[in-house]
Amino acid sequence: MAHDAAFSSSHSSFDPSSEALTPPGDSSLWRKDFLLGAATAAYQIEGAATEDGRLASIWDTFSAIPGKVLAGDTGAVACDHYHRWESDLDLLTSLNFEAYRLSIAWPRVMDEAGRPNRKGLDFYKRLLGTLKDKGLQTFVTLYHWDLPQHLEDRGGWLNRDIVYRFADYADLMSRELAGHVDAWATLNEPWCSAFLGYGNGHHAPGLADGRFATQAMHHLLLAHGMAVPVLRANDPASKKGIVANIGRGSANSSSAADGRAAHLFEVQHNAWVLDPLLKGEYPQDLWHLWPGTEPLVLEGDPKTIAAPLDFLGINYYFRTNVESDGGHGMVEVPLEGVERTQMGWEVYPDGLRDLLIGFNRTYPNLPPIYITENGMASDDQVIDGQVNDLQRIAFLKRHFAAVDAAIKEGVDIRGYFVWSLMDNFEWAFGYERRFGVVHVDYDTQRRTPKRSAQLIAKFLSERAAKA
Ligand code: FCB
Repeated sequence: MAHDAAFSSSHSSFDPSSEALTPPGDSSLWRKDFLLGAATAAYQIEGAATEDGRLASIWDTFSAIPGKVLAGDTGAVACDHYHRWESDLDLLTSLNFEAYRLSIAWPRVMDEAGRPNRKGLDFYKRLLGTLKDKGLQTFVTLYHWDLPQHLEDRGGWLNRDIVYRFADYADLMSRELAGHVDAWATLNEPWCSAFLGYGNGHHAPGLADGRFATQAMHHLLLAHGMAVPVLRANDPASKKGIVANIGRGSANSSSAADGRAAHLFEVQHNAWVLDPLLKGEYPQDLWHLWPGTEPLVLEGDPKTIAAPLDFLGINYYFRTNVESDGGHGMVEVPLEGVERTQMGWEVYPDGLRDLLIGFNRTYPNLPPIYITENGMASDDQVIDGQVNDLQRIAFLKRHFAAVDAAIKEGVDIRGYFVWSLMDNFEWAFGYERRFGVVHVDYDTQRRTPKRSAQLIAKFLSERAAKA
């Protein structure tokens, strides 16, 4: 995501009267085999940053540098989920969610020599075992951005050796956790790891060089491709996939140059990741947009990257309006008068529908899709014990409708996870931006389900009760 979009509070097209988010009776979301869950990620919720042998991650290092994270926030405590996981899982089930997407903190489960850290592994075994006992489906992401710092010290995603370190990590996890996991995702949003982490420095490790971004992306995708067969061998019963963030680009005018700019926006945001995964090649237009940044690709890499997938996870948040920069590139032109969230992101559900329908046409081998993240941040306050997050309710309702519309156009979408179960550490924006359907008071760690969570629970209990 462009986590650096400007803040705007205009909510012009928001309709507060449409409170309930239960979909209409003919919606595919009523189907019992359509999975509805909530998502989180390790660094954003766990805390306990130095406990039980956990090593430092690049986000511990990055967030300790003044100016990198809003208000100097870090994930050192976060939602204290490492200690409160049992009551958090009770909360999850009290809201009737049927699935939970979480990530494993690589620095918690392996030491510098690649040996297992039993205490860290036991945490995830207990967590996943409890989720299975409660009857939930478990979606586990191996890498949601918290690279062990000692690997970054050896070049991180710029050093090809990381591909083998990641395969070792996938091997250990799938041997230890086989039977506890319904679906494995290798990576969360390689676009963010590569572009924000190595291309513009907005995320850890904070490097800013276009050539770094493309090489980091190549190693991320290669690590994914190496890990998939390892996961298959160790845990044949589970699904294997990857999670990509996708973005809609729109042209600021009907000119050919602006049309090309919108196309290039989607090339760098979507095709940069999806083409190598699903076509076995990078989109050539990427090198027109970013001349001279081709990564070093060795023989056999494209085939490894294009390992067959059981599912594709899609994270969708907003649209970006662009125009030509007069040269070979594009530049963002924020639209006036559109509804935006606390992040400044435009609320644009049609983008999700249109992208999904487009991918279904572009990629004949498109695997079944899960929406692994969708949601929004708002400045939610607890008033008399209630959080009335009306904008989120309307947001979710409209995105449910977009998913249903894509299914009706023939896209094979199997589930939807709201981002996020609870407010958490929103990367470079720290704790200010609240994405949860459950509010977290960071002084007391008190959790308060927002109105959106209550309405999701209501829909899910109605759905479960249907014959
Ligand atoms: C996505 C990330 C997730 C969260 C949301 C808002 O890019 O995967 O961790 O930060 O954005």
